[in-house]
Amino acid sequence: MSKFTEQPEPSVEKISVLHEESIIIGFHLTEYMIRDIILNIPASTYALITDSNLASIYLENISIRFKNIASKLFLSKGNNAVPPRFISYVIPPGEQSKNRNTKAEIEDFLLSQTCTRDTCIIAFGGGVIGDLVGFVAATFMRGVPVVQVPTTLLAMVDSSIGGKTAVDTPHGKNLIGAFWQPKRIFMDLIYLESLPERQFINGMAEVIKTAAINNESSFILLENGVASIRDAVLNPKKDVPFQGATLETRTPAQSLLLTVIRHAAEFKANVVTNDERESGLRGLLNFGHSIGHAIEAILYEVLLHGECISVGMVREAELARSLGHLNQVAVGRLVRCLESYGLPISLDDKKIKKLVGNRQCSVDEIMEFMKVDKKNIGGKKRIVILSGIGKTLEQKATFVPDPPIRKVLSPAVSIIPVTSSSNLPNHVTMTTPGSKSISNRALVLSALATGTCRLKGLLHSDDTQVMLVALQNLGGAKFEWEDNGETLVVKGGGGNLKVPDKEIYLGNAGTASRFLTTVCTLVSAMSKTETRKTTIITGNSRMKQRPIGPLVDALRENDSQILYLENEGCLPLEIAPLGLRGGVINLSASISSQYVSSILLSAPYANEPVTLSLTGGQVISQPYIDMTIAVMDSFGIKVERLDGNVYRIPKGCYKNPSEYIIEADASSATYPLAIAAITGITCTLPNIGSASLQGDAAFAVKVLQPMGCTVTQTATSTTVKGPPIGSLRPLPQIDMETMTDAFLTASVLAAVASNNDAGECITRITGIANQRVKECDRIAAMVNELSKFGVTASELPDGIQIHGAKIQSLKSPEKGVKCYDDHRIAMSFSVLGCVVSNGTIIREKKCVEKTWPNWWDDLESKLGIQFDGLEIESEQDLLLTKNEIKVSKDKSLLFVGMRGVGKSILGKIAANFLNFQLIDFDKYFETTLSITLHDFVEKHGWAAFREKEFEIISSLLQAYPSGYVISCGGGIVENPNSRDLLKAYIREKGIVIHVVRDIKEVEEYLNRLNKDTARPKYGEAFLDVWNRREGWYKECSNYEYLSTTSNDDPSMWHHEETNFIRFLKFITGSDTNQINIEQKNKTFFVCLMYSDISSELQHIPTITHGADAIELRVDSLSNNSNTESFVDYVLKQFTLLRRSSSLPIIFTVRSQGQGGKFPDTQEKEMFFLLAQALKWGCEYVDIEICWSHDLISNLIKNKGHTKIIASWHDVMGTVKWDSEEIRRHYRTSEEYGDIIKLVCRAGSIIDNFKLQEFIGSLKTRTKPIITINMGVEGQLSRVLNEFLTPVTHPLLPSKSAPGQLSVSEIHQALHLIGQLPKKNFYLFGTPISHSVSPVIHNTGFGVLGLPHHYDLFESENIDDVKPILQDSQFGGASVTIPHKISIMKYLDHISEHAKLIGAVNTVIVEIDSNGNRKLLGDNTDWLGIYHSVKPLVRIDSTSSGLVIGAGGTSRAAIYALHQLGVSTIYVYNRTLAKITDLVTHFPTCGLVPLTSLSQTFSQSPQIIISTIPGTSVMEFPDEIFQFDKGVIVEMAYRPRRTNLLKKGEEKGWIGIEGVQVLIEQGIHQFKKWTGKTAPRNIIEENVLKKYNE
Ligand SMILES: NC(=O)c1ccc[n+]([C@@H]2O[C@H](COP(=O)([O-])OP(=O)(O)OC[C@H]3O[C@@H](n4cnc5c(N)ncnc54)[C@H](O)[C@@H]3O)[C@@H](O)[C@H]2O)c1
Ligand SMILES: [Zn+2]
Repeated sequence: MSKFTEQPEPSVEKISVLHEESIIIGFHLTEYMIRDIILNIPASTYALITDSNLASIYLENISIRFKNIASKLFLSKGNNAVPPRFISYVIPPGEQSKNRNTKAEIEDFLLSQTCTRDTCIIAFGGGVIGDLVGFVAATFMRGVPVVQVPTTLLAMVDSSIGGKTAVDTPHGKNLIGAFWQPKRIFMDLIYLESLPERQFINGMAEVIKTAAINNESSFILLENGVASIRDAVLNPKKDVPFQGATLETRTPAQSLLLTVIRHAAEFKANVVTNDERESGLRGLLNFGHSIGHAIEAILYEVLLHGECISVGMVREAELARSLGHLNQVAVGRLVRCLESYGLPISLDDKKIKKLVGNRQCSVDEIMEFMKVDKKNIGGKKRIVILSGIGKTLEQKATFVPDPPIRKVLSPAVSIIPVTSSSNLPNHVTMTTPGSKSISNRALVLSALATGTCRLKGLLHSDDTQVMLVALQNLGGAKFEWEDNGETLVVKGGGGNLKVPDKEIYLGNAGTASRFLTTVCTLVSAMSKTETRKTTIITGNSRMKQRPIGPLVDALRENDSQILYLENEGCLPLEIAPLGLRGGVINLSASISSQYVSSILLSAPYANEPVTLSLTGGQVISQPYIDMTIAVMDSFGIKVERLDGNVYRIPKGCYKNPSEYIIEADASSATYPLAIAAITGITCTLPNIGSASLQGDAAFAVKVLQPMGCTVTQTATSTTVKGPPIGSLRPLPQIDMETMTDAFLTASVLAAVASNNDAGECITRITGIANQRVKECDRIAAMVNELSKFGVTASELPDGIQIHGAKIQSLKSPEKGVKCYDDHRIAMSFSVLGCVVSNGTIIREKKCVEKTWPNWWDDLESKLGIQFDGLEIESEQDLLLTKNEIKVSKDKSLLFVGMRGVGKSILGKIAANFLNFQLIDFDKYFETTLSITLHDFVEKHGWAAFREKEFEIISSLLQAYPSGYVISCGGGIVENPNSRDLLKAYIREKGIVIHVVRDIKEVEEYLNRLNKDTARPKYGEAFLDVWNRREGWYKECSNYEYLSTTSNDDPSMWHHEETNFIRFLKFITGSDTNQINIEQKNKTFFVCLMYSDISSELQHIPTITHGADAIELRVDSLSNNSNTESFVDYVLKQFTLLRRSSSLPIIFTVRSQGQGGKFPDTQEKEMFFLLAQALKWGCEYVDIEICWSHDLISNLIKNKGHTKIIASWHDVMGTVKWDSEEIRRHYRTSEEYGDIIKLVCRAGSIIDNFKLQEFIGSLKTRTKPIITINMGVEGQLSRVLNEFLTPVTHPLLPSKSAPGQLSVSEIHQALHLIGQLPKKNFYLFGTPISHSVSPVIHNTGFGVLGLPHHYDLFESENIDDVKPILQDSQFGGASVTIPHKISIMKYLDHISEHAKLIGAVNTVIVEIDSNGNRKLLGDNTDWLGIYHSVKPLVRIDSTSSGLVIGAGGTSRAAIYALHQLGVSTIYVYNRTLAKITDLVTHFPTCGLVPLTSLSQTFSQSPQIIISTIPGTSVMEFPDEIFQFDKGVIVEMAYRPRRTNLLKKGEEKGWIGIEGVQVLIEQGIHQFKKWTGKTAPRNIIEENVLKKYNE
């Protein structure tokens, strides 16, 4: 019962909304709430509606407490009083439930419970419940009272207040709803403790937003209270029961949490009260929402509302800044505050990227969505413009024109060049970002000083911001901003510091932590009212690892009491307020000069004058110590440096100068000065001059002056006037070692320094080697990017050399300047961009934020350089989505591999197929050096040979970069240089094929060849050589081909060749053998679950009936041999399969976790296998999306033409099609895959309908998807799936998944459910009674389970077929004599082939895009000939053919020959007139009429096609068989063996029987009608049976 102990009376705070105190905030409010509701909102039934997440945590507790309290309250009323009823209803969680269906469901529940007007509804949950249940209450019985119990932070501060209720529709979110004010809103903050962290962070966005628009002090609480606020929710203290219910038990963190939530809720309540129905004021709440909502609209399924508006707030604040209303200080504070709570500040945020994947949010899309914002008026966008933290420009949203919005949103800028008509200011005076080191020092000193100081040019960074807040918390000073953030007014506190009331949080600000450690020792306990007795400084986790030990040691030795609260030597520190004793302080200064500066800065405030003695040898960064002393001097304290490293600091108090100008950061200062130099204007920087200690400060005098600028410098200011545009002079030689960061600025100027009468305009910059290891290799980057402008530049070992170009000759980089995420590259190229006449795109504009966040604003508003916002495809985006070109087809192709594997033969085939020249490396070597390999090795040794080999292969690749096939020597990989060369070749998109063969076979083969002395011997065991080289071959090749034909058996080379050409076609992309995703009919793949397929090969043709692909389940393979590795075994299996079927192969390694056999622990091994499949040129590779992102994306990068099936299987059967989880898997699959595959498990048939709904809900789907439910209950999903349904076959040993069906079963099922109506097919013509066509097609229909039927329709008169053609059941027809031409008049259109042949033999029924039925006339006769002949002959430019006969069939024969590439076609016929007709019909086919066959052919025919009746008694003279091993095609099929066939075969020719051609033709016809490949082997069997009858 302890769970239900009574709650203490809670201390609550109330907020009034619409003049009633209906919002109640506190901790542990359940009982309070129940009493309040029962007493103040009387009802007979209280119906609590919640979601299943919350129900499981809270419902039981609430229900029991409700019943207890109700009965107690009513007991006291007397016996007759009936306590009210408590009922509850639970819906699924998430936005998916916020729809009309769920609303109806809840209403039905209420009605079934006989709820009446006398019902009070309690909406217990997040915004989804609040909106939905609020809407139910608004309409149930025309409106019943509702109580909102928000349980998410978002719901508390936003959705529960204001009475807006709604549901979503497929047309958009919140489109149907009502205003319905809740009677009460109970914010029990204890509920937040169970909230997932991401949901909590989500709500913080609204909290921060509200503070940002109206309450700076609340914002400061948020800025400083990060750790407490997060802890109060995420790691709450549980010291006492019901902690926080009463003020006594409430922790400070809880109080702070309550305060910030109350502030946010109050503001919303206030707005609602003054402005219930949306108008001006309410618009303020939309800060961040104009852009945020647009992002949300695009990414709503992936991102939460708060995440979107967080990004929106940053963008809108930047917009305000660019419009000149908001300073960078405020933007920086906002950004840091959002970030510190874990909110994203841009869509590039890593966490966001992970969620969003490849989905883009383009500027156009965002602008488009912003158009429909409710706040807009007449197309003009309205956005809340912040004018400071806690302030807005207007008390409502402000009109903003499109261009500035677009600019802010755009990731890239396009700089508009300066022309004579540009409105450039003549003379610009501007301050540039301050030096970070000086900013930090000046802040500390001005705060510790007496009097008021105006700090100008302070750098706005994390460090300075944190420092400022900390000094404020220490009560050390007051700060105020002036001049739009350019001046900080410091009212110094004279060193009177107090113990802050909470810990000081420093984030990761290193300098601040060092400087403040000593400052905190200065705190002295001043008053007794202070609650804390010590000062604690802490930071984020990174900070907690940074060392501070030596400083703490020195201070402890000086009697300061400092404790490490966590790790020894690091923050957090607890510092006692004892003041600093002073006297001699010893400090080890060899680690950081910041320790020294820390003590120096605070030393004047010690009780005794300090003598600081630096120990530990070498003092590092003396200039920084000098800087500290110099700044101290400006604030009135003079440090004396004694001998050695000893400093004496007098006691005293700093005095604030009325103004202190913080010196500019000298590197940043170079950019505006360079703009003056390149555009010819004058620029003055008042905050940096000759007295500066920063090296880069010499830029003006040492670089700009000699280049032709006029430079005037005072101690603290610099003015540069540029020469007229185009007249900068080159600097022949400059050492920039003392100002390395400025070399980029110098380089872009050197690029246009072309004014040198004396000749060359080369600038050489040296001394900058360190720039190679900055954000990027800046020297390389500079050379690269300059070249895009047409500027020649080259790298020097420690510098760069640049050829100055005339400005007019500069090109605009086509895809813009790439910044390598380096701020200096972006800023320097924006200098160059000022003069490039066609404009310059800088790709990543955001990278300037590191040092000059408002650089682009300053460039425009201060320097007068205009630019446009612009969006260009980022290079990264291209990575996963677009099929990156892995290889270039034209580059020469290389073969590597052991001797004897068949490189030369395969090389020849490749050369032939690609039309490349073949170079055999060994032969080339011998010819060029005029020495045999053998002799060379004999004479010079192996080492020399390998070197020579490398030399020659390099020169070969240089000389023959494209159009060659180079077969390399076996040992090429022995030389590391050669290996590097091959690897580089692959990187440059070359193809290197590693040819492998069973290594034992190779050894035997080579042994037999031992007479071969042409090649050098290994001199060691063959297998040792192979073992050494194997890994090298693999790393030096991007493809691998297993040759299975022994060199001794040339007859097998035909098969090898077919297979190898398929491989070549695939890797070069000329024919990838993949399924056309455009095709309309269903496709299937059959899963092979064998452990060894070699014994099953004879079944493959049958098993694959109706399939469009074959899946090789690699995880079910198992090799029994222990001499062969699994990978080698898999390659053999894969190759066997590829040789036994032309269907594309799906390579799948299914893991145990996803229902397969591959061990879940072997992730690396799995990806190795998958990578091999890519090397082997497999058409499809299945990747399970559950593996690590890096492995997957690395693999995908190398996919080449392989299509990736990104799959996910719910083996446990716990995931539903309407869940958020399945959507997440969908998005991940979509990101990785070319094909998406999602498999769940069906519990009932309903799950199949859910699946269909899921498919229907995918709005814009561009990639094919496979969705299946496993299990018998899921069979319907297999019937309905469209693309690549996995199927089984009765001949297979086991199904690969429960519920799997065969193609035939699926077709039958489709027919029965009305999705595949029966069609009738016919043969038109006469005489046709002996035709075998019905056997062909009916066999096909039968085997595949298709319901169709094929019949003869014999008739003389073509008009008889008309009614058949018009019948809606008509499915298609074969056409033979005498109708092949006359049928055309009934057809809607004729295919190109049929037109060219002049005959139709196939009628196809098509349904066009408007659903209209169309009849197409086509011709498959020629296809029968073409495909029968193609595999048997090699056609070249001299090939000729002979067609016998000149009737209708001869046309198809001629056309087929022509398509095969035969250039000379002899046509023999007894009557010349008929041939002449053919010649006129085929004018360009190279026809040669013959009236006699007994003659000498100028090119003896290689193919003979006979189209005369088989019974003809014609004589065939020997002359026509002169060609060696030609092919005869007999078109007549009765008798089966004609005279021609007999005679030809006697002569050694290959004969093709008429029936074979007919079957081939029929198979193409079948495919055209049904989209399916006909079952050839069974058709052949049945046709021959009929034939022999
Ligand atoms: N009416 C308005 O003025 C208004 C304003 C803003 C947002 N909204 C609406 O609010 C909805 C978003 O609300 P949300 O962000 O609260 O999301 P939500 O209601 O979907 O809740 C988020 C998730 O957290 C779970 N959850 C809620 N409270 C929990 C708790 N205490 N412990 C554990 N889990 C908990 C929920 O079950 C859910 O899975 C959107 O539909 C949006 O349109 C309405
Ligand atoms: Zn919002």
